[in-house]
Amino acid sequence: MPAVDRINRQWVLARRPIGQVRVEDFARRDGPVPVPDLAAGEILIRTLMIGFDPAQRGWMDEGASYMPPIAIGEPVRGSAAARVVASRNPVYPEGAVVRGLFSWQDYSVVALRGEPAPVLVAPDVTPEEALGVLGGASLTAHVGLNQVGGLRAGDTVLVSGAAGAVGSVAVQIARLRGARVIGIAGGAEKCRWLVKDYGADAAIDYRNGDVAERLAALAPNGIDLFFDNVGGETLEAGIAHIARFGRIVLCGAISGYNDVTPAPGPRNLSRLIAQRAEMRGFILLDHMDHVPAARAELTAWLRAGQLRYRVDIQQGFEAIPATFLRLFSSASQGKQLLRVE
Ligand SMILES: NC(=O)c1ccc[n+]([C@@H]2O[C@H](COP(=O)([O-])OP(=O)(O)OC[C@H]3O[C@@H](n4cnc5c(N)ncnc54)[C@H](OP(=O)(O)O)[C@@H]3O)[C@@H](O)[C@H]2O)c1
Repeated sequence: MPAVDRINRQWVLARRPIGQVRVEDFARRDGPVPVPDLAAGEILIRTLMIGFDPAQRGWMDEGASYMPPIAIGEPVRGSAAARVVASRNPVYPEGAVVRGLFSWQDYSVVALRGEPAPVLVAPDVTPEEALGVLGGASLTAHVGLNQVGGLRAGDTVLVSGAAGAVGSVAVQIARLRGARVIGIAGGAEKCRWLVKDYGADAAIDYRNGDVAERLAALAPNGIDLFFDNVGGETLEAGIAHIARFGRIVLCGAISGYNDVTPAPGPRNLSRLIAQRAEMRGFILLDHMDHVPAARAELTAWLRAGQLRYRVDIQQGFEAIPATFLRLFSSASQGKQLLRVE
């Protein structure tokens, strides 16, 4: 077994966040590295890079969701790329790099009894690609648009959170499939990326101006498919402009993740009746059968130069909680990652 450090640094959930998540909701704890007593089938991994997802905020709350809450005092659950440093499982040899749902600590023992199992990262794929453009966010965009949203050539597609990890890939997939795409993002620079880098036909800066008014001008015949990452007023504006037989895919609702009391609304749901429109939420984990084909298509687009991507890589273990907080403002500049070493 290669040499491992003696100390396992961890960031644990110190308390349940109330409203806006804060750095003080997390605590540093150092413990011994959990070696060498691996049981048959287990692996020991060393975290190389952490990926941050807005959904982690929901896992910090008490109560049922699509995943159990993170326990107080436990290392925070999150996606990461890691190196296998010891293995009693032939599928995951020592030295291999894996991507999966691990936690905010240097070393973890992965028992491989639950699902989903870690994914082996191919040698020609970097950790930032594995967690970013070929990771869960991009797969979410692919599955959400195609399997849930029934994306068709010629659709007018609206994407909110469009400059983020999921949104930027959703914009490009819709364009690659022959749709007309309008993206919503915060600030002039991110709106420039949408049009210049990701190929959106138009961009709306929700921080400057009225989204519903801009939609009326940009989509006079309505939105056929709305891929919503934001919820709240953005969702309401999309509903107001949904086309007849339009589809709304609820991917995320980041504008409300830090609310103490959920905001009421949307106030215009009856518009779905008049427009014979449908609205449906989804979770990527229910669509794992589509993941291999989606990943293969994303990889082919990436290698052919047809898929562009931004990663925002912060540095160092100490910065993990502060990096997570970047998701809930306009601070993050693409897929939010952190290099541990
Ligand atoms: N359903 C699923 O299976 C699934 C899987 C993965 C992710 N998701 C959801 O997809 C959404 C996007 O995730 P991501 O990983 O791509 O994150 P992301 O968009 O890369 O990161 C967060 C971005 O959200 C925007 N934002 C933050 N607070 C906001 C607010 N109050 N109002 C409007 N925009 C706000 C900011 O962009 P601006 O600068 O543009 O404001 C920020 O940069 C999230 O809601 C996430 O929960 C769902």
